[in-house]
Amino acid sequence: MLKSKVKHIGILTSGGDAPGMNTAIRAAVRTSIANGVEVTGILQGYTGLLTRKTIRLDISSVRDTMQRGGTILYSSRCLEFQEEANQLKAIEYCRSLNIDALIVLGGDGTFRGALALSRLGLPCVAIPATIDNNIAASEYSIGFDTACNTVIQMVDRLRDTSQSHNRCSVVEVMGGNSGYLALDAGIACGATAILMPEVNFDIEKDVLQRISDGLELGRQHFIIMVAEGAASAIELAKIIDHKTGIETKATVLGHVQRGGSPTAYERVTASEMGHHAVQMVLSGKSGRVVVRKDGKIDDMDIETALAMTKGIDESLYKVARDISL
Ligand code: F6P
Repeated sequence: MLKSKVKHIGILTSGGDAPGMNTAIRAAVRTSIANGVEVTGILQGYTGLLTRKTIRLDISSVRDTMQRGGTILYSSRCLEFQEEANQLKAIEYCRSLNIDALIVLGGDGTFRGALALSRLGLPCVAIPATIDNNIAASEYSIGFDTACNTVIQMVDRLRDTSQSHNRCSVVEVMGGNSGYLALDAGIACGATAILMPEVNFDIEKDVLQRISDGLELGRQHFIIMVAEGAASAIELAKIIDHKTGIETKATVLGHVQRGGSPTAYERVTASEMGHHAVQMVLSGKSGRVVVRKDGKIDDMDIETALAMTKGIDESLYKVARDISL
């Protein structure tokens, strides 16, 4: 048991939910209780700190949650939380509950809330959790592996019907600002072309030409993977259909990608991250984010993490292009 001044931890999930959030909550609750620390769950992300909605979390509250997608604490995107007056209200509320420190799970927006609270005097640590996997500081964000596997399952089904009719399927995956899901899932699904917001593309050269090269090599059906932030699958399908004469269907996978039972990798990583977050809080760390770096769980300053930008993995992108025909 770690000796610590921290006796009571608050935990919340914010932004888009991600499979594995429950696993991290479970790990954080169990690690806290093992160290004699009380845990309160804040409901609906930062909103719950303003509407004062919380629940007590004990061992039984997290039982049988490991395999469940979504978040038992609910989530929201709370724009009002950008205002300092609301951050101060949140701190006052935490103090009234005797909460000594907060653990927050989410993406960049969630980290900004945690940074603000830490600066105003409430110790906070963050855990990266977003299916977008676009947190530059961490090699992995909770939710990504499960979302990738969901996309693969869906596209394998699409491929069956696409192949039966010699069609082209344009699949739109999530990623309003990022294409990591499109890239990994695109490689794993054998996509002929992958479009991401981070990479400039020319439909003529990067999609139509690749389809016609494929046709020349005897290929009769195609998968085109597009991140929602790069192009609309519906519009792209119309162009492909019109220009190539190949019957083309668009599928927008949507929020199905955010649900589902976390994969084995997800469960292990989320457990490690939840455990590490509590160790950080108990050792007095604040304003830091849990990261996976060189394959190991570590942590770094939130401000530094927020200033980092994540580039596309060029070598992975090259693999995608070289093996896609
Ligand atoms: O950040 C995760 C994400 O799923 C993005 O890929 C997507 O652009 C966005 O959330 C959708 O958000 P919402 O669920 O609020 O529509």
